[in-house]
Amino acid sequence: MKKITIAVDGYSSCGKSTMAKDLAKMVKYNYIDSGAMYRAVTLYCLRNNLFDGDFPNEAALKKQLDQIRIDFRYNETTGKSDTYLNDENVEKEIRGMEVADKVSPIAAVGFVREFLVKKQQEMGKNKGIVMDGRDIGTVVFPDAELKIFVTARPEVRAQRRLAELTAKGESVSFEEVLKNLEKRDFIDTTRKDSPLRKADDAVVIDNSDLTIEEQNALILALFKEMDTEKFITVLTFTFPYEVAIVRGRLESEGITCFVQDELFVQLYPHYSNAVGGVKLQVKESDLKKAVEILKESGYLKDEDLQLPEESIRLDKILSKIPIINKLL
Ligand code: DC
Repeated sequence: MKKITIAVDGYSSCGKSTMAKDLAKMVKYNYIDSGAMYRAVTLYCLRNNLFDGDFPNEAALKKQLDQIRIDFRYNETTGKSDTYLNDENVEKEIRGMEVADKVSPIAAVGFVREFLVKKQQEMGKNKGIVMDGRDIGTVVFPDAELKIFVTARPEVRAQRRLAELTAKGESVSFEEVLKNLEKRDFIDTTRKDSPLRKADDAVVIDNSDLTIEEQNALILALFKEMDTEKFITVLTFTFPYEVAIVRGRLESEGITCFVQDELFVQLYPHYSNAVGGVKLQVKESDLKKAVEILKESGYLKDEDLQLPEESIRLDKILSKIPIINKLL
């Protein structure tokens, strides 16, 4: 499948980043947390005394903007990306209450948005990314092929955020967290520049009552709907044993296989009377590689490959099971 751009927008603490991260992992895309970039600018302002009360000193910030460098680096230990501000890992600090409390006014500053949007567009220019934020589907990538808008009830969001903060050792009350969320919602949705709103072509997911597994199944299904690339059958066969049945898509050796009808992954000889069939399909773009793997195995000869479909004799297929399992 041609790589696409996936935009995930929504209110704070509604599980956007969990959703975006999980989706990126499932489809092997890069994940970019745009909120972390606004948080990093906020941390910079806090450290450099650029706040007058709740609001930034815009003139001073504008002057220093080109001194702010933000990037993401992979952390081997956690298996996740960390946010760096001027070469310093600030991942932990930007998630605290102090930054959370001051980030919305920073995100409302037009020239800060312009600065960060440009960086985000640069990061996504080769597609194959999942970016989450508030304006990804509307401003950063208005042409994103898949746009998801996430919502959840405020009390559910506050409860999730509270659990997150408590786990990090911050002591805050449910009311404080809820108040902070509502304040941020208000600023995020009413600010003049790129207010949070659903893109017209975004799919809305309210995940208040969804488990992570249900959410993942839903977003993966959405992603697959986008996958229009043609699949080609490389092998079809019938088999006389009842076996474990799997349908769907499987990844192996960098190839996506689509298993149509029944796939027999494991033999259960005691069900010796049952008959089933499987069609092994691969993406058009993976066809060459799949055929090579099948041939290299020595189990499959040129004449066995079938393009288009044609059943292969049962006795030949029996000997091919190991390679089919390898490919799948
Ligand atoms: O997703 P988050 O809670 O880490 O975002 C932090 C703040 O940054 C939040 O107040 C909204 C703002 N933000 C934004 O305005 N645009 C984005 N694309 C991402 C975040």
